[in-house]
Amino acid sequence: MVIHVVNGPNLNLVGTREPEIYGNTSLEEAMSALEQRFAGLVEIATFQSNHEGALVDHLQAIGFGESRGIVLNAGALGHTSLALGDCIRALRVPVVDVHISNVYAREAFRQNSYVTPACVGSISGLGLDGYGLAVQWLLSRKPA
Ligand code: DQA
Repeated sequence: MVIHVVNGPNLNLVGTREPEIYGNTSLEEAMSALEQRFAGLVEIATFQSNHEGALVDHLQAIGFGESRGIVLNAGALGHTSLALGDCIRALRVPVVDVHISNVYAREAFRQNSYVTPACVGSISGLGLDGYGLAVQWLLSRKPA
C-alpha cells in the first residue's frame, strides 16, 4: 500500500527559505520522518518538482493507480495553475491539499486557489505536521 506526497516549486528550499514562515526543518528531513513514522503501515512515495508540467505528468502517472491517495503541496502553483486543478479533477485517487503556512493569514493572492477546490480537503497552517495529518486521514478513509 502506498500514499504519494508531492511537493511543488520552492518547497525543496524549506528549512532555509523564509524560516520564520516555514521553519528550520528541511523538506528532506520532514519526508524521511514521515516515511519512518508510517513504516510498516504504508509506503510513503515522495516527489518534488519546480516545474508545472512535471507535476502534471507525475500526478497523471500516479493518479489512476492503486494508491490510497495523494498529499499535494503545490506551493505557489496552487494560486495560479488551472492545469493542476484540471489534472486533479481528472484523477481517480483522492488528493489532499496541504500548505505549511496559513495561506488565509497571509497576502490576499494566497487566498485564491485553483487546486484546493479540486481536492477532497485541505490543511493549511499546521506547519510540516500537515503532511502527517493528511496521510493519517487518507489511511483512515475507507477506500472507494
Ligand atoms: C505554501 C504556501 C504558498 O502560498 C507558497 O507559494 C509556497 C508554500 C505553503 O506550504 O505554505 O510556496 O504552499
